[in-house]
Amino acid sequence: MTTATPLLELENVHKWYGQRHVLRGIDLRLHQGEVVCVIGPSGSGKSTLLRCINQLEKADAGTISLGGVDVMHEKRRGKLFERSGKDVAAFRQRIGMVFQHFNLFGHMSAVENVMFGPRQVNGVDKVVARARAMELLDMVGLAARASQLPTQLSGGEQQRVAIARCLAMEPEILMFDEATSALDPELVAEVINVMKELARAGTTMIAVTHEMGFARDAADAIVMMDAGLIIEEGPTAEVLNAPRHARTALFLGHVANRPDNRPDSRPANRPDV
Ligand SMILES: Nc1ncnc2c1ncn2[C@@H]1O[C@H](COP(=O)(O)OP(=O)(O)OP(=O)(O)O)[C@@H](O)[C@H]1O
Ligand SMILES: [Mg+2]
Repeated sequence: MTTATPLLELENVHKWYGQRHVLRGIDLRLHQGEVVCVIGPSGSGKSTLLRCINQLEKADAGTISLGGVDVMHEKRRGKLFERSGKDVAAFRQRIGMVFQHFNLFGHMSAVENVMFGPRQVNGVDKVVARARAMELLDMVGLAARASQLPTQLSGGEQQRVAIARCLAMEPEILMFDEATSALDPELVAEVINVMKELARAGTTMIAVTHEMGFARDAADAIVMMDAGLIIEEGPTAEVLNAPRHARTALFLGHVANRPDNRPDSRPANRPDV
């Protein structure tokens, strides 16, 4: 337990889609260097939670703070106002997000995809941006594929480029929303290995994933969501080995039996990352 100000703190966050109450009072704290895995059944609100955290969606109530600063509201003359688009964009840049579908720019090579954000958003010099992009591609095991177009890369390679692209913006928190679930099973490990490497390097991460191997190896804590609520959270080993909530136990039983979580269904981990 640390007493430092959490890097990210959610207090009583709610989200409605019309009549549908999708997040029903979420409290969450994430400290620098922590890795949290979010699990839960389909429709429980995991993606909505991540989307609210980086303000792709607007939470309807509650507070989300980054480094102790409210990202949605600012106080002026004692009153709360919604933050300007410019402020929101600045906060969003501090949180990177890797999606299930990588959405690389199809007409740009891997290295150009990674350089794009630093160049366009931060005005980084081309030579500097390219050198940094190459370092990041090397880190995800893809330096040799830097000049390939996305169509010339496998799904796992594209996802690793997407991770490098995200890292190029130097986010303080990296969020993954089922980053491996669109991949063929034999390509999952290469992406998971990159995620584990990032975790080991001290990256602060929130990962929505059903990859229990990743959770077990890399996550400090597990957060279990059900119907818009966090119904259980705790240290990884505790939640995985001795879930307190029957819904968690049931859910873990289901995911453990998915083909991609059976130990004998995995190719050996690739050593290149
Ligand atoms: N844009 C939207 N408009 C209306 N309802 C939405 C929208 N996005 C999500 N929902 C609803 O909100 C609920 C939570 O969705 P969410 O995508 O956050 O779940 P999830 O836990 O990520 O599920 P999955 O595991 O299938 O990805 C679901 O009932 C979903 O139908
Ligand atoms: Mg989702």
